[in-house]
Amino acid sequence: MKLWKGRFKKEADPRTNDFNSSIAFDSRMYRQDIEGSIAHATMLGRQGIIDEGESMKICVELGKILEDLDSGALAIDPDAEDIHTFVEQELTARIGDAGKRLHTGRSRNDQVALDIRLTLREDCNGLLRQLKDLGRVLCQKADQYSGAVMPGYTHMQRAQPVTFGHHLMAYAEMVLRDISRFEDALRRMDLCPLGSGALAGTTYPLERELTAKLLGFTAPTQNSLDGVSDRDFCAEIAFAASLCMVHLSRLCEELVLWCSWEFKFIELDDAYCTGSSIMPQKKNPDLAELIRGKSGRVIGDLTALLTMLKGLPLAYNKDMQEDKEAVFDAVDSLKLCLTPLIPMLETMKVLEGNMRKAAAGGFINATDCADYLVSLKGLPFRDAYKITGELVALCLDRGLTLETLPLEEYRRVCPAFDEGVFAAISLEKCVGGRKVLGGPAPENVKAQARRVLDLLERGNT
Ligand code: ARG
Repeated sequence: MKLWKGRFKKEADPRTNDFNSSIAFDSRMYRQDIEGSIAHATMLGRQGIIDEGESMKICVELGKILEDLDSGALAIDPDAEDIHTFVEQELTARIGDAGKRLHTGRSRNDQVALDIRLTLREDCNGLLRQLKDLGRVLCQKADQYSGAVMPGYTHMQRAQPVTFGHHLMAYAEMVLRDISRFEDALRRMDLCPLGSGALAGTTYPLERELTAKLLGFTAPTQNSLDGVSDRDFCAEIAFAASLCMVHLSRLCEELVLWCSWEFKFIELDDAYCTGSSIMPQKKNPDLAELIRGKSGRVIGDLTALLTMLKGLPLAYNKDMQEDKEAVFDAVDSLKLCLTPLIPMLETMKVLEGNMRKAAAGGFINATDCADYLVSLKGLPFRDAYKITGELVALCLDRGLTLETLPLEEYRRVCPAFDEGVFAAISLEKCVGGRKVLGGPAPENVKAQARRVLDLLERGNT
């Protein structure tokens, strides 16, 4: 049965119904739809817009419908046009005329705008909890491996020494920003559109502050046209999810590289890997790859939302029904990815020896050799840079490293060198000396990890 029957002489073609229906993806909002209706009915009763007794009856029955849906005693009718229609029709079937009064001063347009906000609020709070767990794991590991020297890369070439802890803390910083982006989106979404009606508000004396308060919003929205046609919050959340997925994707790309035989910096736990049906030796980082892969679909969700919105005149247009699949897919995909990623990081084995070995090749202490000539021997940096470059070329010719090149050879290129150079270019010294704020010195990394853990604890990102 249609809510909009009266004007039509003909039944809708079944193909119209199939195409038009959103029940397959908006039934996930049944609880929020009912909560919104309870708040609306309560307010209608208090304002005397409907009889208080009827308002009570509506609220009690909506509560029962919710219980029945939760327990499975009541199934959602897949033929209903949408979740709003289903709930209202079920209510009317149960309590008759009182049920028909629920929609007074309301439209499905402000109703759906409300339901999405309520649903996304919960989804985002769940994501925030997961992101905080991820941040905590990264900090704990960073603290544990604050002294694990590894090569830092630029252009995927060994560049300067860092530590595994320092590298992980870079991701912890990204996670902090992801958290603040979701919090920020939640703050802007914290307004209640109920009372906007179809587009032009209503003549009934609605108490919009009351419904907003009952539903946990800071205030009502301020413009009825905007209240029903704003989907900025969907786009913002999809963006927060997309950028977060991009961060996870970069981390996963590194996990894939690090657990390859070419790197072997880490070993992922068997519980978070898969095998091959033909190659008995294989242990594949499928989960990390799949997270990397899913980042593409979340970016697709954001693109779909922005593209759907960009040509829409005010106010509501049916195009907007496309918002839900996109934004729900974005938050669901992120949740799905965070769920195994957190324990996968928690259980990974870090092969410090291999990292240290990789750090010993590739002349990653060359900058420190030049810095030694500058700091201890007073050379201008450009000269020191050139001398060190010549030393590297010499080492490459002889199959040596800066550590194994004899002092005489150093002195032949530049007589200022003395024994002290070997201490200056030791990897521990190179890392330990980078005490500048944000640098990889182990005590810095420990302090960064403490700071981020503290921010996560205080919920003050
Ligand atoms: N299913 C619709 C949506 O998701 C609900 C709003 C319908 N409003 C309307 N005027 N057709 O957008």
